[in-house]
Amino acid sequence: MRNLCKNLLVASLLLSLASCQKDAPQTPDAELKFSVPKNFPAPVYDFTKNEVTTAGFQLGRRLFYDAIFSRDSTIACADCHISFSAFSHVDHPTSHGIDGLFGKRNAPAIQNMAWRTTFFWDGGVPHLDLVPLNAIQNPVEMDELPANVVRKLNRHPEYPQLFKLAFPERDSITGASMLQALSQFMNMLVSADSRYDRFVRNEPGNSLSTDEIAGLNLFREKCSTCHAGELFTDQTFRNNGILNDFSLDKGRNEVSALAEDIGKFAVPSLRNVEKTPPYMHNGKFPTLQSVLDHYASGIKNSPTLDPLLQNGIALSDTEKKQIIAFLKTLTDENFIRDVRFQKH
Ligand code: HEC
Ligand code: HEC
Repeated sequence: MRNLCKNLLVASLLLSLASCQKDAPQTPDAELKFSVPKNFPAPVYDFTKNEVTTAGFQLGRRLFYDAIFSRDSTIACADCHISFSAFSHVDHPTSHGIDGLFGKRNAPAIQNMAWRTTFFWDGGVPHLDLVPLNAIQNPVEMDELPANVVRKLNRHPEYPQLFKLAFPERDSITGASMLQALSQFMNMLVSADSRYDRFVRNEPGNSLSTDEIAGLNLFREKCSTCHAGELFTDQTFRNNGILNDFSLDKGRNEVSALAEDIGKFAVPSLRNVEKTPPYMHNGKFPTLQSVLDHYASGIKNSPTLDPLLQNGIALSDTEKKQIIAFLKTLTDENFIRDVRFQKH
Protein backbone atom coordinates (compact mmCIF):
# COMPACT_ATOMS: atom_id res chain seq x y z
CA MET A 1 0.00 0.00 0.00
CA ARG A 2 2.84 2.43 0.80
CA ASN A 3 4.33 1.83 -2.62
CA LEU A 4 1.01 2.27 -4.28
CA CYS A 5 0.53 5.59 -2.56
CA LYS A 6 4.00 6.68 -3.57
CA ASN A 7 3.40 5.75 -7.19
CA LEU A 8 0.06 7.40 -7.34
CA LEU A 9 1.39 10.53 -5.74
CA VAL A 10 4.16 10.97 -8.17
CA ALA A 11 2.27 9.74 -11.17
CA SER A 12 -1.00 11.51 -10.83
CA LEU A 13 -2.16 14.97 -10.01
CA LEU A 14 -5.44 13.73 -8.65
CA LEU A 15 -4.75 11.79 -5.49
CA SER A 16 -3.75 13.73 -2.43
CA LEU A 17 -1.79 12.27 0.46
CA ALA A 18 -4.91 12.54 2.57
CA SER A 19 -6.88 10.20 0.33
CA CYS A 20 -4.07 7.65 0.40
CA GLN A 21 -3.93 7.73 4.17
CA LYS A 22 -7.62 7.07 4.23
CA ASP A 23 -6.80 3.79 2.54
CA ALA A 24 -7.93 4.69 -0.95
CA PRO A 25 -9.46 1.80 -2.91
CA GLN A 26 -6.83 -0.27 -4.65
CA THR A 27 -6.43 0.54 -8.30
CA PRO A 28 -6.55 -2.44 -10.69
CA ASP A 29 -2.82 -1.85 -11.24
CA ALA A 30 -2.02 -2.75 -7.65
CA GLU A 31 -1.78 -6.48 -8.21
CA LEU A 32 -0.04 -6.32 -11.49
CA LYS A 33 2.04 -9.34 -12.43
CA PHE A 34 2.81 -11.19 -15.64
CA SER A 35 1.38 -14.69 -15.66
CA VAL A 36 1.16 -17.42 -18.26
CA PRO A 37 -2.41 -18.51 -19.15
CA LYS A 38 -3.03 -22.21 -18.49
CA ASN A 39 -3.48 -23.12 -22.15
CA PHE A 40 -0.39 -21.17 -23.36
CA PRO A 41 3.18 -22.39 -23.86
CA ALA A 42 6.13 -20.83 -22.00
CA PRO A 43 6.87 -17.26 -23.14
CA VAL A 44 9.85 -16.39 -25.32
CA TYR A 45 10.63 -13.00 -23.75
CA ASP A 46 13.39 -13.20 -21.14
CA PHE A 47 11.77 -11.65 -18.08
CA THR A 48 14.92 -12.15 -15.97
CA LYS A 49 16.38 -9.19 -17.89
CA ASN A 50 13.28 -7.00 -17.55
CA GLU A 51 10.79 -8.13 -14.96
CA VAL A 52 7.38 -6.45 -15.07
CA THR A 53 6.81 -4.20 -12.06
CA THR A 54 3.83 -1.99 -11.36
CA ALA A 55 5.90 1.20 -11.64
CA GLY A 56 7.56 -0.01 -14.85
CA PHE A 57 4.25 -0.98 -16.40
CA GLN A 58 2.66 2.36 -15.47
CA LEU A 59 5.60 4.22 -16.94
CA GLY A 60 5.42 2.13 -20.12
CA ARG A 61 1.73 2.86 -20.40
CA ARG A 62 2.28 6.57 -19.97
CA LEU A 63 4.95 6.49 -22.70
CA PHE A 64 2.75 4.44 -25.01
CA TYR A 65 0.06 7.14 -24.87
CA ASP A 66 2.49 10.07 -25.09
CA ALA A 67 3.25 11.90 -28.35
CA ILE A 68 6.67 12.86 -26.97
CA PHE A 69 8.16 10.18 -29.23
CA SER A 70 7.27 11.99 -32.44
CA ARG A 71 9.26 14.84 -33.97
CA ASP A 72 6.40 17.36 -33.67
CA SER A 73 4.65 15.78 -30.66
CA THR A 74 1.60 14.83 -32.69
CA ILE A 75 1.71 11.01 -32.81
CA ALA A 76 1.72 8.52 -29.96
CA CYS A 77 2.13 4.74 -30.22
CA ALA A 78 -1.54 4.54 -29.20
CA ASP A 79 -2.64 6.53 -32.26
CA CYS A 80 -1.80 3.55 -34.46
CA HIS A 81 -2.31 0.84 -31.83
CA ILE A 82 -5.76 1.47 -30.38
CA SER A 83 -7.09 -0.50 -27.42
CA PHE A 84 -10.63 -1.06 -28.75
CA SER A 85 -9.21 -2.87 -31.78
CA ALA A 86 -6.78 -5.00 -29.74
CA PHE A 87 -4.13 -2.31 -30.25
CA SER A 88 -4.32 -2.42 -34.03
CA HIS A 89 -5.53 0.31 -36.38
CA VAL A 90 -8.85 -0.12 -38.10
CA ASP A 91 -9.65 2.96 -40.13
CA HIS A 92 -6.86 2.81 -42.72
CA PRO A 93 -5.62 -0.11 -44.81
CA THR A 94 -2.05 0.98 -44.04
CA SER A 95 -0.78 2.97 -41.11
CA HIS A 96 -1.19 6.75 -40.90
CA GLY A 97 1.60 8.64 -39.20
CA ILE A 98 3.32 12.00 -38.95
CA ASP A 99 2.50 14.79 -41.44
CA GLY A 100 -0.46 12.70 -42.62
CA LEU A 101 1.89 10.24 -44.34
CA PHE A 102 0.89 6.65 -44.94
CA GLY A 103 3.11 3.62 -44.47
CA LYS A 104 2.89 0.57 -46.69
CA ARG A 105 1.71 -1.89 -44.04
CA ASN A 106 -1.32 -2.40 -41.83
CA ALA A 107 -0.66 -1.76 -38.12
CA PRO A 108 -0.92 -5.18 -36.41
CA ALA A 109 -2.55 -5.89 -33.06
CA ILE A 110 -0.29 -5.78 -30.03
CA GLN A 111 -1.19 -8.78 -27.90
CA ASN A 112 0.68 -11.78 -26.52
CA MET A 113 3.97 -10.19 -27.58
CA ALA A 114 5.88 -12.14 -24.89
CA TRP A 115 5.46 -15.30 -27.00
CA ARG A 116 6.76 -13.86 -30.25
CA THR A 117 10.07 -14.88 -31.79
CA THR A 118 10.13 -12.02 -34.34
CA PHE A 119 8.21 -8.79 -34.93
CA PHE A 120 6.81 -6.97 -37.98
CA TRP A 121 5.23 -8.48 -41.08
CA ASP A 122 8.68 -9.36 -42.41
CA GLY A 123 10.15 -10.43 -39.06
CA GLY A 124 12.70 -7.62 -39.40
CA VAL A 125 12.86 -6.95 -35.65
CA PRO A 126 14.23 -9.79 -33.50
CA HIS A 127 13.36 -8.47 -30.01
CA LEU A 128 10.40 -6.65 -28.48
CA ASP A 129 12.66 -4.08 -26.82
CA LEU A 130 13.87 -2.97 -30.25
CA VAL A 131 10.47 -2.48 -31.88
CA PRO A 132 9.92 1.13 -30.71
CA LEU A 133 13.23 2.27 -32.19
CA ASN A 134 11.84 1.48 -35.60
CA ALA A 135 8.56 3.30 -35.01
CA ILE A 136 10.30 6.36 -33.56
CA GLN A 137 12.78 6.69 -36.42
CA ASN A 138 10.48 5.74 -39.27
CA PRO A 139 10.00 8.87 -41.43
CA VAL A 140 6.34 8.04 -42.03
CA GLU A 141 5.60 7.11 -38.43
CA MET A 142 7.16 9.33 -35.74
CA ASP A 143 10.28 10.64 -37.52
CA GLU A 144 12.30 11.39 -34.41
CA LEU A 145 15.76 10.40 -33.14
CA PRO A 146 15.74 8.16 -30.04
CA ALA A 147 18.50 10.34 -28.52
CA ASN A 148 16.22 13.38 -28.85
CA VAL A 149 13.41 11.54 -27.12
CA VAL A 150 15.74 10.67 -24.24
CA ARG A 151 16.72 14.35 -23.99
CA LYS A 152 13.07 15.42 -23.97
CA LEU A 153 12.29 12.85 -21.27
CA ASN A 154 15.18 13.97 -19.07
CA ARG A 155 14.00 17.59 -19.29
CA HIS A 156 10.36 16.73 -18.63
CA PRO A 157 8.80 17.87 -15.31
CA GLU A 158 7.50 14.40 -14.38
CA TYR A 159 9.34 11.66 -16.28
CA PRO A 160 12.63 11.76 -14.31
CA GLN A 161 10.74 10.83 -11.13
CA LEU A 162 8.67 8.17 -12.87
CA PHE A 163 11.80 6.55 -14.31
CA LYS A 164 13.42 6.66 -10.86
CA LEU A 165 10.45 4.75 -9.45
CA ALA A 166 10.57 2.16 -12.23
CA PHE A 167 14.36 1.78 -12.34
CA PRO A 168 15.62 2.95 -8.92
CA GLU A 169 19.18 1.80 -9.54
CA ARG A 170 19.65 3.99 -12.65
CA ASP A 171 20.76 7.61 -12.31
CA SER A 172 19.23 9.19 -15.40
CA ILE A 173 16.85 8.27 -18.16
CA THR A 174 18.48 6.13 -20.83
CA GLY A 175 17.26 4.73 -24.11
CA ALA A 176 17.37 1.25 -22.60
CA SER A 177 15.09 2.23 -19.70
CA MET A 178 12.63 3.82 -22.10
CA LEU A 179 12.51 0.69 -24.25
CA GLN A 180 12.27 -1.65 -21.27
CA ALA A 181 9.36 0.32 -19.78
CA LEU A 182 7.50 0.11 -23.10
CA SER A 183 8.15 -3.64 -23.19
CA GLN A 184 6.80 -4.02 -19.66
CA PHE A 185 3.56 -2.40 -20.77
CA MET A 186 3.35 -4.40 -24.00
CA ASN A 187 4.19 -7.69 -22.29
CA MET A 188 1.18 -7.23 -20.02
CA LEU A 189 -1.11 -7.07 -23.06
CA VAL A 190 -2.06 -10.72 -22.80
CA SER A 191 -5.25 -11.81 -24.50
CA ALA A 192 -6.34 -15.24 -23.24
CA ASP A 193 -9.87 -14.79 -21.97
CA SER A 194 -12.01 -15.25 -25.08
CA ARG A 195 -14.96 -17.66 -25.19
CA TYR A 196 -12.67 -20.02 -27.09
CA ASP A 197 -10.14 -19.97 -24.21
CA ARG A 198 -12.81 -20.72 -21.64
CA PHE A 199 -14.00 -23.55 -23.84
CA VAL A 200 -10.56 -25.16 -24.24
CA ARG A 201 -9.74 -24.65 -20.56
CA ASN A 202 -13.02 -26.32 -19.75
CA GLU A 203 -14.13 -23.51 -17.52
CA PRO A 204 -17.71 -23.85 -16.31
CA GLY A 205 -20.61 -22.06 -17.93
CA ASN A 206 -18.91 -21.40 -21.23
CA SER A 207 -19.84 -23.51 -24.18
CA LEU A 208 -19.68 -22.90 -27.91
CA SER A 209 -22.68 -23.22 -30.22
CA THR A 210 -22.99 -26.05 -32.76
CA ASP A 211 -21.90 -23.73 -35.57
CA GLU A 212 -18.93 -22.43 -33.58
CA ILE A 213 -17.78 -25.98 -32.82
CA ALA A 214 -18.21 -26.97 -36.46
CA GLY A 215 -16.13 -23.88 -37.33
CA LEU A 216 -13.45 -24.85 -34.82
CA ASN A 217 -13.19 -28.32 -36.35
CA LEU A 218 -13.02 -26.90 -39.88
CA PHE A 219 -10.41 -24.43 -38.72
CA ARG A 220 -8.29 -27.19 -37.19
CA GLU A 221 -8.54 -29.16 -40.40
CA LYS A 222 -7.96 -26.37 -42.94
CA CYS A 223 -6.21 -23.42 -41.30
CA SER A 224 -4.25 -24.56 -38.26
CA THR A 225 -1.10 -25.72 -40.05
CA CYS A 226 -0.21 -22.04 -40.37
CA HIS A 227 -2.46 -20.44 -37.75
CA ALA A 228 -1.23 -22.99 -35.24
CA GLY A 229 -1.60 -23.55 -31.51
CA GLU A 230 -2.95 -21.21 -28.89
CA LEU A 231 -1.26 -18.19 -30.44
CA PHE A 232 -2.86 -18.99 -33.80
CA THR A 233 0.41 -18.66 -35.65
CA ASP A 234 3.31 -21.02 -36.26
CA GLN A 235 5.51 -17.88 -36.45
CA THR A 236 6.76 -18.66 -39.94
CA PHE A 237 6.69 -16.54 -43.10
CA ARG A 238 4.49 -17.64 -45.95
CA ASN A 239 2.88 -16.46 -49.16
CA ASN A 240 -0.87 -16.99 -48.83
CA GLY A 241 -1.67 -15.92 -52.38
CA ILE A 242 -3.17 -12.47 -51.84
CA LEU A 243 -0.91 -10.93 -54.51
CA ASN A 244 1.24 -12.03 -57.43
CA ASP A 245 3.20 -8.79 -57.77
CA PHE A 246 5.42 -7.96 -54.82
CA SER A 247 7.25 -4.95 -56.25
CA LEU A 248 5.69 -2.66 -53.62
CA ASP A 249 6.59 -4.88 -50.68
CA LYS A 250 8.74 -8.00 -50.93
CA GLY A 251 8.00 -9.13 -47.36
CA ARG A 252 10.49 -11.50 -45.72
CA ASN A 253 12.86 -11.01 -48.65
CA GLU A 254 13.49 -7.43 -47.44
CA VAL A 255 15.16 -8.98 -44.39
CA SER A 256 16.72 -12.16 -45.78
CA ALA A 257 17.42 -11.05 -49.40
CA LEU A 258 16.58 -14.61 -50.47
CA ALA A 259 14.59 -14.99 -53.70
CA GLU A 260 12.59 -17.78 -52.10
CA ASP A 261 11.29 -15.26 -49.51
CA ILE A 262 9.75 -12.79 -51.97
CA GLY A 263 6.09 -12.33 -51.08
CA LYS A 264 6.28 -14.20 -47.78
CA PHE A 265 4.83 -12.46 -44.71
CA ALA A 266 4.51 -13.41 -41.06
CA VAL A 267 1.53 -15.65 -40.34
CA PRO A 268 -0.52 -13.36 -38.07
CA SER A 269 -2.27 -14.43 -34.88
CA LEU A 270 -6.03 -14.54 -35.29
CA ARG A 271 -6.87 -13.64 -31.71
CA ASN A 272 -9.37 -10.73 -31.64
CA VAL A 273 -9.45 -10.91 -35.44
CA GLU A 274 -13.09 -9.74 -35.47
CA LYS A 275 -11.81 -6.41 -34.09
CA THR A 276 -8.81 -5.89 -36.36
CA PRO A 277 -9.98 -5.21 -39.91
CA PRO A 278 -8.81 -4.53 -42.52
CA TYR A 279 -6.87 -7.76 -43.02
CA MET A 280 -3.46 -8.82 -44.37
CA HIS A 281 -0.17 -6.87 -44.39
CA ASN A 282 -1.58 -4.39 -46.88
CA GLY A 283 -5.08 -4.20 -45.41
CA LYS A 284 -6.46 -5.67 -48.61
CA PHE A 285 -9.62 -7.28 -47.24
CA PRO A 286 -12.26 -5.32 -45.33
CA THR A 287 -14.19 -8.26 -43.84
CA LEU A 288 -13.70 -11.84 -42.63
CA GLN A 289 -16.11 -12.93 -45.39
CA SER A 290 -13.73 -11.47 -48.00
CA VAL A 291 -10.82 -13.33 -46.34
CA LEU A 292 -12.68 -16.65 -46.52
CA ASP A 293 -13.70 -15.95 -50.14
CA HIS A 294 -10.01 -15.36 -50.86
CA TYR A 295 -8.91 -18.72 -49.44
CA ALA A 296 -11.75 -20.54 -51.22
CA SER A 297 -11.54 -18.97 -54.66
CA GLY A 298 -9.18 -15.98 -54.86
CA ILE A 299 -5.68 -17.47 -54.45
CA LYS A 300 -3.18 -15.83 -56.83
CA ASN A 301 -0.37 -17.99 -58.09
CA SER A 302 3.30 -16.93 -57.90
CA PRO A 303 6.62 -18.76 -57.52
CA THR A 304 6.58 -18.63 -53.70
CA LEU A 305 2.90 -19.44 -53.15
CA ASP A 306 2.61 -21.82 -50.20
CA PRO A 307 2.23 -25.44 -51.38
CA LEU A 308 -0.73 -25.86 -48.99
CA LEU A 309 -2.65 -23.27 -50.96
CA GLN A 310 -1.87 -24.35 -54.54
CA ASN A 311 -5.49 -25.34 -55.09
CA GLY A 312 -7.07 -22.98 -52.58
CA ILE A 313 -9.06 -24.30 -49.63
CA ALA A 314 -12.35 -25.92 -50.58
CA LEU A 315 -15.10 -24.27 -48.52
CA SER A 316 -18.88 -24.20 -48.96
CA ASP A 317 -20.86 -21.11 -47.99
CA THR A 318 -22.00 -22.85 -44.80
CA GLU A 319 -18.43 -23.80 -43.91
CA LYS A 320 -17.28 -20.20 -44.42
CA LYS A 321 -20.04 -19.01 -42.07
CA GLN A 322 -19.06 -21.61 -39.48
CA ILE A 323 -15.39 -20.65 -39.62
CA ILE A 324 -16.33 -16.99 -39.22
CA ALA A 325 -18.55 -17.90 -36.25
CA PHE A 326 -15.57 -19.70 -34.72
CA LEU A 327 -13.16 -16.80 -35.41
CA LYS A 328 -15.50 -14.50 -33.49
CA THR A 329 -15.13 -16.71 -30.39
CA LEU A 330 -11.52 -15.47 -30.30
CA THR A 331 -12.74 -11.99 -29.35
CA ASP A 332 -11.61 -11.15 -25.84
CA GLU A 333 -13.77 -8.30 -24.54
CA ASN A 334 -12.08 -8.36 -21.14
CA PHE A 335 -8.75 -7.67 -22.83
CA ILE A 336 -10.09 -4.94 -25.07
CA ARG A 337 -11.89 -3.19 -22.22
CA ASP A 338 -9.24 -3.74 -19.54
CA VAL A 339 -8.93 -0.33 -17.85
CA ARG A 340 -5.32 -1.03 -16.89
CA PHE A 341 -4.41 -0.80 -20.56
CA GLN A 342 -6.25 2.44 -21.30
CA LYS A 343 -4.85 5.95 -21.13
CA HIS A 344 -4.54 7.17 -17.51
C1 HEC B 1 2.12 5.57 -37.72
C2 HEC B 1 1.60 4.38 -37.11
C3 HEC B 1 2.43 3.69 -36.02
C4 HEC B 1 2.96 4.25 -34.87
C5 HEC B 1 2.96 5.70 -34.45
C6 HEC B 1 3.52 3.14 -34.13
N1 HEC B 1 3.33 1.97 -34.80
FE1 HEC B 1 3.80 0.13 -34.13
N2 HEC B 1 3.41 -0.62 -35.95
C7 HEC B 1 2.88 0.08 -37.02
C8 HEC B 1 2.97 -0.72 -38.21
C9 HEC B 1 2.50 -0.32 -39.61
C10 HEC B 1 3.56 -1.94 -37.84
C11 HEC B 1 3.94 -3.10 -38.76
C12 HEC B 1 5.30 -2.74 -39.32
C13 HEC B 1 5.85 -3.74 -40.30
O1 HEC B 1 5.40 -4.88 -40.30
O2 HEC B 1 6.75 -3.36 -41.06
C14 HEC B 1 3.80 -1.85 -36.40
C15 HEC B 1 4.32 -2.89 -35.62
C16 HEC B 1 4.47 -2.83 -34.25
C17 HEC B 1 4.77 -3.95 -33.39
C18 HEC B 1 4.99 -5.40 -33.84
C19 HEC B 1 3.69 -6.13 -33.95
C20 HEC B 1 3.82 -7.42 -34.69
O3 HEC B 1 2.85 -8.20 -34.68
O4 HEC B 1 4.87 -7.70 -35.28
C21 HEC B 1 4.84 -3.48 -32.12
C22 HEC B 1 5.14 -4.27 -30.86
C23 HEC B 1 4.62 -2.05 -32.18
N3 HEC B 1 4.38 -1.70 -33.48
C24 HEC B 1 4.71 -1.17 -31.10
C25 HEC B 1 4.73 0.22 -31.25
C26 HEC B 1 5.17 1.15 -30.22
C27 HEC B 1 5.66 0.77 -28.85
C28 HEC B 1 5.06 2.40 -30.76
C29 HEC B 1 5.43 3.71 -30.12
C30 HEC B 1 6.83 3.88 -29.79
C31 HEC B 1 4.52 2.24 -32.10
N4 HEC B 1 4.35 0.91 -32.36
C32 HEC B 1 4.18 3.29 -32.92
C33 HEC B 1 2.36 1.35 -36.96
C34 HEC B 1 2.69 2.27 -35.97
C1 HEC C 1 -0.31 -21.69 -45.85
C2 HEC C 1 -0.48 -21.02 -44.60
C3 HEC C 1 -1.88 -20.47 -44.30
C4 HEC C 1 -3.07 -21.15 -44.27
C5 HEC C 1 -3.33 -22.61 -44.58
C6 HEC C 1 -4.06 -20.19 -43.86
N1 HEC C 1 -3.48 -18.96 -43.64
FE1 HEC C 1 -4.42 -17.29 -43.04
N2 HEC C 1 -2.70 -16.22 -43.30
C7 HEC C 1 -1.49 -16.74 -43.70
C8 HEC C 1 -0.55 -15.67 -43.93
C9 HEC C 1 0.90 -15.81 -44.35
C10 HEC C 1 -1.26 -14.48 -43.68
C11 HEC C 1 -0.70 -13.04 -43.84
C12 HEC C 1 -0.51 -12.77 -45.33
C13 HEC C 1 -0.18 -11.34 -45.68
O1 HEC C 1 -0.60 -10.42 -45.00
O2 HEC C 1 0.53 -11.16 -46.69
C14 HEC C 1 -2.60 -14.87 -43.27
C15 HEC C 1 -3.60 -13.98 -42.90
C16 HEC C 1 -4.85 -14.34 -42.46
C17 HEC C 1 -5.84 -13.43 -41.94
C18 HEC C 1 -5.64 -11.92 -41.76
C19 HEC C 1 -5.27 -11.60 -40.32
C20 HEC C 1 -4.86 -10.19 -40.11
O3 HEC C 1 -4.72 -9.81 -38.94
O4 HEC C 1 -4.66 -9.42 -41.06
C21 HEC C 1 -6.95 -14.16 -41.62
C22 HEC C 1 -8.25 -13.64 -41.02
C23 HEC C 1 -6.66 -15.53 -41.95
N3 HEC C 1 -5.38 -15.60 -42.46
C24 HEC C 1 -7.53 -16.58 -41.77
C25 HEC C 1 -7.30 -17.88 -42.24
C26 HEC C 1 -8.29 -18.92 -42.25
C27 HEC C 1 -9.69 -18.78 -41.71
C28 HEC C 1 -7.69 -20.01 -42.83
C29 HEC C 1 -8.32 -21.34 -43.17
C30 HEC C 1 -9.52 -21.26 -44.00
C31 HEC C 1 -6.33 -19.64 -43.14
N4 HEC C 1 -6.12 -18.34 -42.77
C32 HEC C 1 -5.39 -20.49 -43.70
C33 HEC C 1 -1.20 -18.08 -43.86
C34 HEC C 1 -2.16 -19.10 -43.93
